[in-house]
Amino acid sequence: MNGEIKFAYDSGGFVQEHELQAFETQVRAAHEVLHSYEGLGREYLGWLDWPLHCSRDEIDKILHVAAEIRKRAEVFVVIGIGGSYLGARSALELLGHTFFNNLSQEKRRGPQIFFAGNNLSSRYLTHLLEIIGEKELVINVISKSGTTLEPALAFRFFKTILEKRYGKRRARERIIATTGEKGALRNLARQEGYEIFPVPGDIGGRYSVLTAVGLLPLAVAGIDIMGIMSGARRGCRLYSEERPADNPAYRYAMLRQILYRKGKVIELLASYEPSFYYFTEWWKQLFGESEGKDQKGILPAGLNFTTDLHSLGQFVQDGYRNIFVTTLWLEKTPEEQEIPPLAEDIDGLNFLAGKTLQFVNKNACTGTMRAHSDGGVPNLKITIPELTPRVYGQLVYFFEKACAMSGYLLGVNPFDQPGVEAYKKNMFELLRSNNREG
Ligand code: PA5
Repeated sequence: MNGEIKFAYDSGGFVQEHELQAFETQVRAAHEVLHSYEGLGREYLGWLDWPLHCSRDEIDKILHVAAEIRKRAEVFVVIGIGGSYLGARSALELLGHTFFNNLSQEKRRGPQIFFAGNNLSSRYLTHLLEIIGEKELVINVISKSGTTLEPALAFRFFKTILEKRYGKRRARERIIATTGEKGALRNLARQEGYEIFPVPGDIGGRYSVLTAVGLLPLAVAGIDIMGIMSGARRGCRLYSEERPADNPAYRYAMLRQILYRKGKVIELLASYEPSFYYFTEWWKQLFGESEGKDQKGILPAGLNFTTDLHSLGQFVQDGYRNIFVTTLWLEKTPEEQEIPPLAEDIDGLNFLAGKTLQFVNKNACTGTMRAHSDGGVPNLKITIPELTPRVYGQLVYFFEKACAMSGYLLGVNPFDQPGVEAYKKNMFELLRSNNREG
């Protein structure tokens, strides 16, 4: 593989070497528990070896169905929320084109891809339906439980539209269900004869992007999913090292937990590429839902630099000191832009003429990290060599592994989400009582 994902920590005096050494025993113990499937949430550890176990038949089926969809659909709508949504969206944004939700204008022979069922906004749905119009439509409804309200409602709308437009029988050929082994969606899909992709029972939503949940939409977009899985396999091998010194994912997890114990309760994931926006959203869900429980946890939040240097930058530099920043730095991008000279150097920036925007971005990143360190903000840095499917797969696995380790070090079950039920309970009670009242 060209280049490697690198993890670095600018100590800045925040964490001493002996603190890392002291934590090493805990990391080794947590590694043992994780890899012997004995820890909290062990019934959801399917993701741990998934890149090695995912069968060639399953990948071939995904590629086959994706090829059919690419032939027949002008628009492909992916319905899902949380872990059934953010992975595919993040990869599409990272590996696709910034302004086309597909590979690039030239290579775009497949359908336009849109997402639905990730909110309850009638404005969003109305605008989406307007954009879709009469275009040839195929949908993929993704819900492991098959009972989540947002995707279930969106599915109702799209099922109704498809049946009206194509008739009940032909509509069935335009609906693909990605779902767990049981539940309402599985039953409906079986009854109606939809194409079904399984979500393995032992892989939770936020760890599921490397299953059909993420891979089918990505294959429809023309993204090399074999490359993604090959990167994930590499991550699986690299991040199985027991010693934190040899395992960047564990080192990252360990530093997070040391900083947390020093009152750094907010982690800001900062990237200098707008196309990392949804990756940050995916990361927020992964860490937020995995660690935020039992009145503990680091609050994960995102920064989109340099844009946010002109809004949140002030707070990061000078505000309440309970934060640390993890920078995602993209080392190389094939899209280079050289800064043009101006005849009259009105803005005084001619000294940059001939340099690339990436050169400026890199200096902004280094300068910002130094300033934050001076301002009392610990800095972690993850360098991504380039944006390829392989690197994406490895990066996903890096964070999944780090998150599991971090959760175990924190003493929580990183694979459940009991808190998510609270709003659902209230909402359904309200919906039922308000419905009765008319
Ligand atoms: O990580 C999780 O398990 C959740 O975020 C789920 O992915 C999310 O709630 C959607 O659930 P489902 O796929 O069952 O509709």
